[in-house]
Amino acid sequence: MQIRQVAIIGAGTMGASISVAVASAGYEVLLRDVSVDALQQGLQKIDKMFQSLVRKGLAEETAQRHRARIKTVTDYSELADADLVIEAVLEKIDVKTAVFRELDRSCKPSCILGTNTSSLSITEIAACTNRPDKVVGLHFFNPAHLMKLVEVVPALQTSQSVCERTLEFARSLNKLAVRVEECASFLVNRLLGRYMGESLWVLQEGVATIEEIDKAVTDYVMPIGPLALRDMNGADIGLAVARFNFQEYGERFRPAPLLEAMVAKNWLGQKTGKGFYLYDPETKKRTVPNGSIAELILPSSTPPAAFNPQRLFLPMINEAFLALQENVCAAEDLDPALMAGLGMRRGPLELAEELGLANCLEQTEKLFASYGERFRPAPLLKRYVRAGRSSILKREGQLAAASN
Ligand SMILES: NC(=O)c1ccc[n+]([C@@H]2O[C@H](COP(=O)([O-])OP(=O)(O)OC[C@H]3O[C@@H](n4cnc5c(N)ncnc54)[C@H](O)[C@@H]3O)[C@@H](O)[C@H]2O)c1
Repeated sequence: MQIRQVAIIGAGTMGASISVAVASAGYEVLLRDVSVDALQQGLQKIDKMFQSLVRKGLAEETAQRHRARIKTVTDYSELADADLVIEAVLEKIDVKTAVFRELDRSCKPSCILGTNTSSLSITEIAACTNRPDKVVGLHFFNPAHLMKLVEVVPALQTSQSVCERTLEFARSLNKLAVRVEECASFLVNRLLGRYMGESLWVLQEGVATIEEIDKAVTDYVMPIGPLALRDMNGADIGLAVARFNFQEYGERFRPAPLLEAMVAKNWLGQKTGKGFYLYDPETKKRTVPNGSIAELILPSSTPPAAFNPQRLFLPMINEAFLALQENVCAAEDLDPALMAGLGMRRGPLELAEELGLANCLEQTEKLFASYGERFRPAPLLKRYVRAGRSSILKREGQLAAASN
């Protein structure tokens, strides 16, 4: 069955930008929120996004044609003909399951029900419907109309054909669609979490300054430093995510006390004008690093040495090997997903090959000896090194060739 009509539930930050992405690919969009007011606010965001696309070169009449495909609805009964639903309401399991029960009652039996959750269990959401085989994670990145990646996350119950159709749909939006098996934070945010967390330990231990960390990392492969990014997203959001990952994965995701202290001081970043950097109250632009952070930083016990950004990427590489070991995604999808999701210039597997797998293991083991669990080497990385492999994708290629 062809997908023509797509319902989007929730007209907030994500629902609005997903609506723009979906309507721009030629689909009819039905947008629902809890009130006419919330829908109006959603439409204002949508109009601003189209205006910004026009400023960047989209023809005015094309923007109008796309915009005209978005209609608002207030009642679930109006979703009876939808072929696909993308839910983007609050990140609360009770709210999501209530929405999915309504959708299950109102949508036709063939309709696929997708959720844009970042952290909740897709399997649990699927289980509250009478069509668990047709429920799937459809994880867009913010802003969805500009970001290239969509993680398609099947629940334990999702049928193969629903997963494939959802991947096909995401590709039809001109996105990189990657199948990711269900795990906390999915693929990209899981790997990002290890790297973000390590940047805080490095700062807290006095190994490098705010500016040294951000500069070393942007010079290496990232479009923005981890501390500037933490300020953009908010330390409170960062702490909630870090606590969630810590609860799901254990010690290696333990939040750095520095992050807890920043939240306690309300140094949340851009939204409070003060985080790792200070922000101009008028222009909201970043000015200088927040000097008061010095009071939260321990004096370094090691002699100062030039900060090496590998300290942040080795945990990300190690997490990539753990994810591959768990078959969270195909090896060939991992780097493209990280590059599309985070704007990295090279993905973690390419970085690992560049550094040398044996060297990555040796460095990780040294850090494990100094810092403990955060750096326990992934068993799969050890196996690659023991096998004398220098390339990760080559092995996958050989396996594919062997199975043909
Ligand atoms: N913001 C991000 O960067 C981001 C990125 C990826 C995924 N997500 C996920 O997307 C989802 C939405 O996040 P957001 O940032 O857009 O939130 P948001 O708070 O901006 O928007 C949520 C919207 O849902 C509406 N809503 C609440 N209950 C509803 C209901 N019963 N029916 C219809 N609408 C309802 C609210 O009125 C609001 O407009 C969450 O699951 C979040 O985890 C967010």
